[in-house]
Amino acid sequence: MTPFRLLFVVGARPNFMKVAPILRKLRGEASLFQWRLVHTGQHYDAAMSDVFFQQLGIPKPDDHLGVGSGSHAQQTAAIMAAFEPLVLDWRPDLVVVVGDVNSTIACALVAAKLRTRVAHVEAGLRSFDRDMPEEINRLLTDQLSDLLFTTEESALTNLSAEGIAPEKIHFVGNVMIDTLLTHLDGARARGVPAQYGLTPGGYAVLTLHRPSNVDDDRAFERLMTALAEIARDATLVFPVHPRTRPVISRSAVAASLIGDGRLQLLDPLGYLDFLGLMSDSRAAITDSGGIQEETTVLGIPCLTMRENTERPVTISHGTNRLVGTDPDRIVAGWREVRDQHGPARVPPLWDGHAASRIVEVLRREAGERDGAPVADRTAALHEVAS
Ligand code: UD1
Repeated sequence: MTPFRLLFVVGARPNFMKVAPILRKLRGEASLFQWRLVHTGQHYDAAMSDVFFQQLGIPKPDDHLGVGSGSHAQQTAAIMAAFEPLVLDWRPDLVVVVGDVNSTIACALVAAKLRTRVAHVEAGLRSFDRDMPEEINRLLTDQLSDLLFTTEESALTNLSAEGIAPEKIHFVGNVMIDTLLTHLDGARARGVPAQYGLTPGGYAVLTLHRPSNVDDDRAFERLMTALAEIARDATLVFPVHPRTRPVISRSAVAASLIGDGRLQLLDPLGYLDFLGLMSDSRAAITDSGGIQEETTVLGIPCLTMRENTERPVTISHGTNRLVGTDPDRIVAGWREVRDQHGPARVPPLWDGHAASRIVEVLRREAGERDGAPVADRTAALHEVAS
């Protein structure tokens, strides 16, 4: 039997922790699977990319597309143009994309047009807010996918409402949590808070990078006024995404908080340092998607400075609370978690075994290919190539 060929795609920081556990599970399966890893280069700084490969034990990518930054159309188009020849050349049985970044939709679209099957890891999450580019990426990627691996029960409801056939959907749990549980002890052992002069429980971790929060000076300054209140109770430690750097340098409130030591700016951290820092914090304050999930499993309160979340299980089961972007609401949310926060429940299947469940489904796929008319798909590829 010829090995089943899997072409994995990563591009941006939140993708790396999602593929790592799947690739680890595929080791030792060489007789059944052959796989290749493509890095689109959407994120290219060492601190946004290379350090994750080293720390998570992800093999060096077989192909690096080096697309870099640009407008959404430019970035998506550059990824598509560079990815298409790889699919034509290597002819995977399945292209595996993760998350909701531009690399996800770009590669799913290329594969679907070449009649190559697509698997989407972290399918079905919906914020119902098309102002977020990620929402558009999620909707379209799921429409194009043949296998949809979901992390929480809301995804099945969302996908069913969009007409996705239930047999394509596999509730496998959360691969990000596989990665977290694998690395938590090692991350804590690094003693990260002490490296920055922080006392466990005495600081809150802040991350901000959503365009709606950081591309507009006035919107950012409103958030900073709320954060200044919070900083009276806990030092704010802020690993800064490259997108966010310019707006901070123009913020008067940030300058004053930095001046009196209540806001500490850091460069983007590697996976282990960030996890170590977060796991000993009093709370996380964020607009990220992944941090809502990680804090849920760590039992650390999370204030999400957004009006919606595509991850409702982090609220129904976890420690997450949506505080929006109104300063009064943010401060009120902080006071509630500061004074009291109840125990969280870990959502179903966030147990460290999501990647095993995915590989189990992939094994079935491989089995089915060998009983199915693969020739049809190969013919379609030839047609496009000629
Ligand atoms: C992207 C994802 C977002 C994810 C985030 C995590 C999309 C639409 N958005 O947003 O879902 O939560 O990554 O980080 O795909 N930059 C650098 N160095 C880098 C990468 C980016 O300096 O290594 C700068 C670029 O100048 C760019 C800006 O950061 O203009 C934004 O990068 P981009 O990949 O376009 O989107 P993110 O905001 O990072």
